[in-house]
Amino acid sequence: MKIFLDTADLAEIRRAADANLIDGVTTNPSLMMKAAGGRDPLDVFLDICRTVDGPVSAEVVAVDKDTMIAEGRRLAEIHDNIVVKVPLTEDGLRACRALRAEGIRVNVTLCFSVAQAHLAAKAGATFISPFVGRIDDVSGDGMELISQIRQVYDNYGFDTEILAASIRHPQHVVQSLLLGADIATMPPKVLFQLLRHPLTDTGLAAFLADWKKLEKEL
Ligand code: G3P
Repeated sequence: MKIFLDTADLAEIRRAADANLIDGVTTNPSLMMKAAGGRDPLDVFLDICRTVDGPVSAEVVAVDKDTMIAEGRRLAEIHDNIVVKVPLTEDGLRACRALRAEGIRVNVTLCFSVAQAHLAAKAGATFISPFVGRIDDVSGDGMELISQIRQVYDNYGFDTEILAASIRHPQHVVQSLLLGADIATMPPKVLFQLLRHPLTDTGLAAFLADWKKLEKEL
């Protein structure tokens, strides 16, 4: 499964990319607002694309099809890594189809149902982004949605990749792996939580302490 980092924070992206832990990046307008620091968003997207060797999702902010398409073209011109992110609305799916016809990759976002995911795949989406954490937040089952989309895409041979988004904790990542999601995008905090295990820390401390004892005896 590919791992994307869900942030626009360049320092975090650099750290994860340098450690070869990530295959791409996703952003959204809220993440851009937090990280842009007064910079032109297009410059921020370019910096991210130069930092990570993989798809970088950049979201349109228009809500009508024609402006979405124009914004999408502008975003795609920034760098080959850019994937244009559009919301799962009627206009969003129209824009998705048009951008895909021009060879531009599209991530359809804000997906909360299997019915929506099916329509996005029919519109040619490159990635579908079901928001598992936000479904859990309203007492739904986000991972059940991933499971059902996997089944539908496999039943009908769609090649749209399932990008589990709104990941809140390592168990969401483990479940994504077990259910066959193609990608999970997660905040830096969750990515680095995946690395840690208390038994690794205590085991390493014990090994190093024993090695010191051995050296003293030499
Ligand atoms: O980028 C889309 C998604 O991952 C947002 O997550 O935590 O704001 O629900 P969250």
